[in-house]
Amino acid sequence: MTLLIDNIGELVTNVVGAGDGGPLGIRRDAALLIEEGRVAWVGAAADAPAADRRIDARGAAALPGFVDSHAHLVFAGDRAAEFVARMAGQPYTGGGIRTTVAATRAATDGQLRRTVGRLRAEALRQGTTTIEIKSGYGLNVAEEARALRIAREFTDETTFLGAHVVPVEYTDRPDDYVGLICGPMLAAARPHARWIDVFCERGAFDVDHARAILACGQAAGLGVRVHANQLGPGPGVQLGVELGAASVDHCTHLSDADVDALADAPTVATLLPGAEFSTRSPYPEARRLLDAGVTVALATDCNPGSSYTSSMSFCIALAVREMGMTPAEAVWAATAGGARALRRDDIGVLRPGARADLILLDAPSHLHLAYRPGVPLVTHVLHNGVPQCQ
Ligand code: NIG
Ligand code: FE
Repeated sequence: MTLLIDNIGELVTNVVGAGDGGPLGIRRDAALLIEEGRVAWVGAAADAPAADRRIDARGAAALPGFVDSHAHLVFAGDRAAEFVARMAGQPYTGGGIRTTVAATRAATDGQLRRTVGRLRAEALRQGTTTIEIKSGYGLNVAEEARALRIAREFTDETTFLGAHVVPVEYTDRPDDYVGLICGPMLAAARPHARWIDVFCERGAFDVDHARAILACGQAAGLGVRVHANQLGPGPGVQLGVELGAASVDHCTHLSDADVDALADAPTVATLLPGAEFSTRSPYPEARRLLDAGVTVALATDCNPGSSYTSSMSFCIALAVREMGMTPAEAVWAATAGGARALRRDDIGVLRPGARADLILLDAPSHLHLAYRPGVPLVTHVLHNGVPQCQ
């Protein structure tokens, strides 16, 4: 079975050197052939091969599906009241994480599975074809393993975040909690996780604890990611670079040394503007990172506390309006950038051999994702070459 997407007015390939020569590798009046879940051919619509089925894009824009490389979907309850208080001037401290931990521990497997499934479906409808899902609201051996087991039902990109905060029962013994994470919790999480993450921040884990936790995860074969420099300046970004992290996430408060370290490293800076929006915080300085040559990704950080959005389009609009990114840079960061942050070369790009994860917009250009904020422009989502119900 082959499927041809024909009459694409603007095709964003993210293939350097293709099309217009820009970073998005834009081809105009293009077509794309899919076979067995992969892109089989990309070229001019005039040269399109015959196929078993055909979708007429009618001049619309097509681009790789969004890669949301940072989300916390395994939770119960919500914290709408906390959001309302913040909008009235209360600061975000991360203290509400413990509220969600209590609600999550009290939930059944079925309740958690329904929440993850609802949010995964919500994201997919909006064009997110790959999503990373973290644990981090269980914070004991059984609960972290349960969260990852459920997350694994929805994605291959699962992240063990037992080091989200120190749970109340270990408040006076953080060293013991770090021992628990590196011992039985890691052993229980490992079969269900690809990555390990630590919230390295004042009030969460200090740099020594964070290094110890990430090192034992790495020794067990997990890739490293870090929640770093979200609420204030700190050592998280440089720790991530030191350990060869795939990504350091948030990057809201960066020193020149942090930016220099990232510029010289393969580590991606993943920016999460939904969190700044929902916590009324200053946005990360994307322009400064890009001008220094740092690879930037955009992700939602979808969680019930700091950023309850699953919309990558919204993050693109914020990045353009508030963070000095061009629409092209923001779209690249939300697709190819996310793929880099997950160390994947089969997604975030549309070239022969890549996974056929792509979206069509009710718009002639990717520019409209930022230009028309809040508008549901995604009309078609193809995941592994299969059209999803819209
Ligand atoms: O990435 N910063 C730490 N963790 C989440 C927030 C989690 C929460 O508030 O529930 C974040 O913003
Ligand atoms: Fe997060």
